[in-house]
Amino acid sequence: MGAQAAWGSILSIVFLVLTGCMPLGLITARSETKGLPPAAPPILRAEHESSLSAAGWSDQRKALLRDAFESYVYGPVPSELRAVEIARRTVDEAYAGGLGILEEVEVRVGEGPRAPTFHIALATPRSVSPGMRSPLIIGENFCGNPTIANAPNLSPPKDGDGCSATGALGVVLRAIFGRHILESPNEEILRRGYAYANVYPGELVADNPRRAQSDIDVFSALLPESRRPRAAIAVWAATYGWSLDVLEQDPRIDPLRTAVYGHSRHGKAALLAGAVDSRIDAVIAHQSGRGGASLTRSLTGETLARITSSYPHWFDPAFARFRTRPDDPPIDQHMLIAMLAPRPVLLGNGWRDVWSDPNSAFRAAVGATPVYALLGADGLAQQDMSDSFSDGAIDFYIRPGGHGVTEGDWMRFLEFLDRRLR
Ligand code: GCU
Repeated sequence: MGAQAAWGSILSIVFLVLTGCMPLGLITARSETKGLPPAAPPILRAEHESSLSAAGWSDQRKALLRDAFESYVYGPVPSELRAVEIARRTVDEAYAGGLGILEEVEVRVGEGPRAPTFHIALATPRSVSPGMRSPLIIGENFCGNPTIANAPNLSPPKDGDGCSATGALGVVLRAIFGRHILESPNEEILRRGYAYANVYPGELVADNPRRAQSDIDVFSALLPESRRPRAAIAVWAATYGWSLDVLEQDPRIDPLRTAVYGHSRHGKAALLAGAVDSRIDAVIAHQSGRGGASLTRSLTGETLARITSSYPHWFDPAFARFRTRPDDPPIDQHMLIAMLAPRPVLLGNGWRDVWSDPNSAFRAAVGATPVYALLGADGLAQQDMSDSFSDGAIDFYIRPGGHGVTEGDWMRFLEFLDRRLR
């Protein structure tokens, strides 16, 4: 095994061990609908609810909230940098049993000789009615584009960080976290008419506390001091938007029907992406947990102290300062969901995924709902975590089982998009 591959395997094992605590340690636990954590503090005070106009919310509050999330949780999201396509090649003309075409697009972020680059694996459906454009899903993945797209000819992640779906580690990861943690149901996605773009965000900022900073510094060199990113999730969130910069130029893609998808750490990034980028029409944040859809001031699941010490490179250092005082930040995650209003968002959960804290994701959805109402939309329509159907714009989904991505999850994601993006 070469040094790079060995390094990749070590990283993958670290990932496995760190995330493994969820299904292993919590296998007997189940989220409860009783004894919910404290409610989210109100975003709108009663006196504001009657006086605040929808326009006032959109323009002023969102800017203030973005500023607060950047100051206290994620650091600046470098979404002001623009991305351009620098190369494209066809990888497979008859991809996924002939249902699609697979291309690889190389993208540069910002200008200059040191501007960073990354790859998008883009699958587009072959059969599209004349004059129609395909809705787009942009996903971020854990193991590299060749694995998620099941296409070995795609460029591998830099430094051999990826993991193979067929190796021993892949078998273990699939057994614990479900098949679709590694590979997506590409045929089903294409059959339903979606274009599906995948990005491995570790190409831009490594998911590694020792290596992330030097990757972040590459972006800092392109930005004024006050806008320099300080943590990985902010750059991963901007990566969704950079992918959109390029893909919305593609005449086969409908720029008015775009969704971002992320599981767990990428679910945190997907929510943040939707919050700061109004081009994104829908968000799927599956088991996004602490720093995602779940309230920081929660009493259950992963603690703030734990997440900021295990993953110091994910958040602004300011977030870790609240580690023993999770009630103290002046904002909480329901406000991030509120920044999506009135756009649709699916919050995926598992009853035994107590680590990701479904209860407080539900609380956050309740807390965001007044802002949806202000903007003329139904937010969370479900009365209880176990209500399975939602016709509100905030769709809370919970299924049996723990942390991971199953076939059933993807079916639910696609049903949500079928209803919401068409
Ligand atoms: C760890 C981490 C979670 C994260 C998860 C994942 O378990 O504690 O916050 O969501 O990894 O990304 O799979």
